[in-house]
Amino acid sequence: MNSWILKDNNYKESYQLKETLFSIANGYLGVRGSFEEGLNKEIPSVRGTYINGFYEKEEIIYGEKLHGFPDNSESILNVIDTQGIKIKINDEEFSLDKGKVLSFERELNFKKGIATRTVHWRSPKGNEINIEFKRLISFVQKELFLIQIEVEALNFDGDIEIISIIDGDVSNIVVEDDPRVGSANAKALKVINVKQENNCSFVEANTKNSNLTVVSGISHKYPKKFQETILIEQKNINHFIKGNLLKGEKNIFTKYAVYTDTIRYKNEMSNNIEILNSVLTYDFNHFASLQEDYLNNFWKYSNIEINGDEKMQQAIRFNMFHLLQSAGKDQWSNISAKGLSGEGYEGHYFWDTEIYIFPFFLFTNPNLAKNFLTYRYTILDSARKRAKQMGHTIGALYPWRTIAGEECSPFFPAGTAQYHINVDIAYSIIQYFEVTEDISFMAEKGIEMLAEIARLMYHIGHFRSDGKFCIDAVTGPDEYTCIVNNNYYTNVLTKNLFDKIGVLWNKIKATHKDKLERISAKIKFNEVELINFEKAGKEMYLPFDKERKLHPQDDSFFNKKVWDFENTPKEKYPLLLNYHPLTLYRHQVCKQADTILGHFLLEGETELEFIENDYNYYEKITTHDSSLSTCIFSIMANRTGKHEKAYDYFMNTSRLDIDNLHHNTENGIHTACMGGSWMSIVFGFAGMRVINGELSFRPNLPKKWESLNFKINFKNRVLNCYLEADTIEIKLIEGQSLKVNVNDNLIAVDETKTIIK
Ligand code: BGC
Repeated sequence: MNSWILKDNNYKESYQLKETLFSIANGYLGVRGSFEEGLNKEIPSVRGTYINGFYEKEEIIYGEKLHGFPDNSESILNVIDTQGIKIKINDEEFSLDKGKVLSFERELNFKKGIATRTVHWRSPKGNEINIEFKRLISFVQKELFLIQIEVEALNFDGDIEIISIIDGDVSNIVVEDDPRVGSANAKALKVINVKQENNCSFVEANTKNSNLTVVSGISHKYPKKFQETILIEQKNINHFIKGNLLKGEKNIFTKYAVYTDTIRYKNEMSNNIEILNSVLTYDFNHFASLQEDYLNNFWKYSNIEINGDEKMQQAIRFNMFHLLQSAGKDQWSNISAKGLSGEGYEGHYFWDTEIYIFPFFLFTNPNLAKNFLTYRYTILDSARKRAKQMGHTIGALYPWRTIAGEECSPFFPAGTAQYHINVDIAYSIIQYFEVTEDISFMAEKGIEMLAEIARLMYHIGHFRSDGKFCIDAVTGPDEYTCIVNNNYYTNVLTKNLFDKIGVLWNKIKATHKDKLERISAKIKFNEVELINFEKAGKEMYLPFDKERKLHPQDDSFFNKKVWDFENTPKEKYPLLLNYHPLTLYRHQVCKQADTILGHFLLEGETELEFIENDYNYYEKITTHDSSLSTCIFSIMANRTGKHEKAYDYFMNTSRLDIDNLHHNTENGIHTACMGGSWMSIVFGFAGMRVINGELSFRPNLPKKWESLNFKINFKNRVLNCYLEADTIEIKLIEGQSLKVNVNDNLIAVDETKTIIK
């Protein structure tokens, strides 16, 4: 097995799933891995092209709409389709449904950033051809999607016609009985213009409510002996490229497709024309080589090498590659729950970014991580507006799910009530500063977000009669337990913010006084507020059952009946698809890690003994119906010495999409889980943490693994970490020497290998 490649030889099975797995993207543009020519209509398929942050807004229709319910939903749109290419040889149309497929292979190459499909096909009349399709969405020229086709006639001389299509007649999928898929307006994109100019064709389409426009332009390169004619229709344009094929001769056709939109471009049509003309001066190989350079640089810092476990090696590379493909790289975009690989969860951005995906980028590519925070800054005004709608006189409330900034979650108990999104964002801002020491980001954007979040959290809490600071009526990460008082996770993350904001404020004041004064004036911040936050942090109530030495997930959790797991048949999982939410809320049953996640993020808030007790308790009642769960259990199983369990949970995490373990990857990859697989390795098996500004390790290499190697970017340094049986070897690759903590011993690390037993 080549662990840099995902391969497939079976085009007949699981077509829709493979459209997801073989999707390509660059964080701006994403195209599902459909076949250019299409396939039998009976076979389920979602043929999609997505632009990160490009959405339509629809009014949410409620049976009963109460005050503060979100007005609109935002859904990612399937945009203009440029995948379409039909091939005719001697008037017989190439299709895997007809004739005979003599061989078929496709692959996604994580080093090259190219998806390839090779088919040896015999037509019904016996003409044999070899076709190789190559696809690339450029990381360097973000608007560009390229398809190169190489056709070789194997046993005949004859005619060939390539029909290349640009099609604005597209729709989104509508699935009403699964909340994880979403239900957008199927036909939200309207074609407003089709035009042709010098062998280039353009389709322009817009949305009604979000008032956005997208333009796509295509053009082609082919051997001189071929001739091209163009047919413009109402919503699509077809290019007919005709010529003759000689036996044994390879002919190469390249399709260039460029996408621009009104979110990022001043004049989406003329910008498109310019970009298309400029990319046309280069061939496929030029962009392929830039792609490889870009990826070489990415892998230089991100690569994880696992010796002794090929399947896991492949899975982790697949996951990291998809994370890079999915990550928005400008201020208008983030990383959605499904990346750009499908329409699941309507393309929304959740807390998944901050808690599950952010660490991977932070420790390998901090600039990309910063972009996620910049995006949160872009939507800060919407979060302030939302806070007001929700009756808070001060602060900002970030949306549970969104694209452009509006709260889009119609089901408030497992949506708006998840106020922890606010402190998740705060956690990652604080973590960003700890790891990068990027004080100018903090002064420009970070501290403003922290201040507004802290205000909001202070506003929703109150000091109880015993002086404890409590937060009522919120939902923690576990969506099977909703609207509770004092969710441990929410409280402990809020405490973290309250404890740290004052120190951060003063640090910024010392170097960026003017900026801080400007922000204070802008948001009318009074430093007395910092004193309040500090007090609330000190007095934060963290529920704890002294007798049982356990942390209840919230005030009422332990009063509830434990779910009858023994008599719940397998087919009833995931429970959310089979039980009314109230039935779930009445029981002790968790969809995902909640208190255990709080322990992972803020281990210092309690003792290891209690963490272990909690682990043992919550493990029994957690269904892992969310793909965000097993990675946290894997990390914490390692932390509490259960190494085999840690490995089992890791297997379920790292191969969740490749092996379709949740049976829904056809709707898109699970980006949080992918980030979780990186975390399970680095925070789990290597036991890495940042504690009081210092990097520390507590290695637990799985028995099966001969060695593990990865790199960490920390405070402007790059470290190489190599684990074998019971040693860890740390070496400084870039930056100045530093001290790290290994199994509670502080050790100096420099360019020479530091081996620690
Ligand atoms: C999980 C949430 C998550 C969402 C998107 C849900 O199933 O419970 O925690 O944010 O999926 O991934």
